[in-house]
Amino acid sequence: MNSIFLDTIKGKTHNRPPVWFMRQAGRVLPSYLALKDKYTFREMMRDPNLAAEVTLLPIKDLGVDAAILFSDILVIPNAMGMGLEFTDNGPVFEKPLKDVESPFSKLNPDSAKLNYIYDVIDTIIEKRPKDTPLIGFCGGPLTVMCYMIQGLSTNHSFPDAVKFFYKNKSETKKIIEAVTNLSVEYLNKQADHKIDAFQLFETHAGLVPVDVYKELFLPSVKKMAAAARDKNIPFIFFPKGFSTGLRLLTPEYCDYVGIDWQIEIEEAGKLVHSELGIQGNLDPRLLYADQTVIENTLNKYIEFGKDNRNWIFNLGHGFIPGTPYENAKFLADWVKNANWKRD
Ligand code: CP3
Repeated sequence: MNSIFLDTIKGKTHNRPPVWFMRQAGRVLPSYLALKDKYTFREMMRDPNLAAEVTLLPIKDLGVDAAILFSDILVIPNAMGMGLEFTDNGPVFEKPLKDVESPFSKLNPDSAKLNYIYDVIDTIIEKRPKDTPLIGFCGGPLTVMCYMIQGLSTNHSFPDAVKFFYKNKSETKKIIEAVTNLSVEYLNKQADHKIDAFQLFETHAGLVPVDVYKELFLPSVKKMAAAARDKNIPFIFFPKGFSTGLRLLTPEYCDYVGIDWQIEIEEAGKLVHSELGIQGNLDPRLLYADQTVIENTLNKYIEFGKDNRNWIFNLGHGFIPGTPYENAKFLADWVKNANWKRD
């Protein structure tokens, strides 16, 4: 495949960084919002033709260098028997685990519940424009468990979930193992259906101290990275809010690290192991500013991009709902047309 995204990952550099955006399929595109008026999120993610269409919208509309599967991280708890519904207010579980006695024993992983997603992947691969790599994904163990235990937490602080990790450590470890086993199987099957790269979204890594993450959750990341490596799939780990935990990441945990907007990209570059690539880290809220302000902020990335040829341009967290589409488009065009001073 002739892809700037895959070339960069493999160490073959181009005259600019590749660009794609977390949450590029939902949230900002007028074409997506128009479909949302006609179909529910569940309908769009379960119908292979619709899901493939949505996955490919950002390629057409924004001109990004990679597509990401249109699905959600919460398909894993759903496949463990947790009865998930996507409502207008966000995802809701029938019974979050904080309200359940001996929750581990009530989980019932059934990998067949994920089968429809492999049909979606096959359809995307059939319909994608030539040379469009497809990124598969799932949620990190901590983030997935925050939702499983707490349900939705409006301010994303998940107090009962964090309490649960401290109070019920052995139960926590058993649930992590179950989530990891199903996630590894899910990654393997996505790879068998020919995704080109995989991202692990650990959005809430910053909720616990680095050493707690290291002890409880990092072994699970290592298992997922090993599975990706066995399948020869590049593995991107995005631990948002991980701060100095970035120092712990070595090639056994990932090939690429997604950097959040909390840390300066140059500092992240110093913390991350020299053999790993970096992706990130523009603050998605910058896109509420006007385009001269956006451009001024972007200019500071030129120096970084000139020297760091294995860097993938992305946001430091997903697009925010309500982001002006013109600014998202401006950003994608800017990355593709700027003079990156790479000679
Ligand atoms: O570009 C894409 O949007 C690709 C597909 C994608 C979705 N969710 C679709 C979705 C991806 C990669 C995700 C990841 C995801 N889901 C994360 C990690 C990344 C992040 O943004 O932090 C998390 C924490 C979730 C859980 C989740 N799913 C929440 C909290 C919500 C409700 C609010 C919202 O929009 O985030 C969802 C629903 C969801 N997932 C929607 C979409 C497009 C909105 C459904 C709708 O449009 O009604």
